[in-house]
Amino acid sequence: MTRSPDYPIDPMFTQRWSPRAFDGQAMDDHDLKTIMEAARWAPSCYNYQPWRFIFIHREDARWDASIGVLDAFNQQWAKHASALIFVVSDTLMGPSEDRLAPSHFHSFDAGAAWAHMSLQANRIGYHMRAMAGVDYARAPEVLRLPTRFKLQIAVAVGRQTTPEHLPDMMQKDEVLTPRRPLQDTIFEGVFAVTEN
Ligand SMILES: Cc1cc2nc3c(=O)[nH]c(=O)nc-3n(C[C@H](O)[C@H](O)[C@H](O)COP(=O)(O)O)c2cc1C
Repeated sequence: MTRSPDYPIDPMFTQRWSPRAFDGQAMDDHDLKTIMEAARWAPSCYNYQPWRFIFIHREDARWDASIGVLDAFNQQWAKHASALIFVVSDTLMGPSEDRLAPSHFHSFDAGAAWAHMSLQANRIGYHMRAMAGVDYARAPEVLRLPTRFKLQIAVAVGRQTTPEHLPDMMQKDEVLTPRRPLQDTIFEGVFAVTEN
């Protein structure tokens, strides 16, 4: 399947996708940091930059424990990634440490950071796949996450390979996903759902 946008966007948007078949090779730390650097330049509310990234290379001592934070489904394929990135965000926000209040935008901002990351990864020959299939109850302890930070998602990073090593049902998913038409997503002026 190929991806055809309804309007003429930069090809980087349709070329980005999320395979599960990774080659299990170590990755250059410079490349991993280049990917996170792109996220650094995402926009955020008040430029608060609520995102933080916890990264683990596959050869790190913490790799097995980090993979163990993923649910059983995701462990099956993500164990072949080159690195994991846990995207976390600061739930508090304020002009100074003594004037903090709950933030309503940290998740939105962290999502923008993840989007930057995934596009940059593709630009330098890697792929990323986000994972919400994480043990959110156990992860803070394993990641030593301060209570004010919320784990958003885990992300697998690596170089794509052929999918023979994956379970059958995952092999058939190694295809580009479509999108619904733009006209079903956008509304002029007010939100309107067309009755069928
Ligand atoms: C927030 C989020 C959570 C996701 N969780 C999982 C997951 O737990 N396991 C998985 O295999 N894919 C997961 N995905 C990948 C999506 O299924 C994938 O991005 C989507 O099908 C669109 O495909 P594309 O990224 O190739 O365009 C997640 C993606 C996002 C953005």
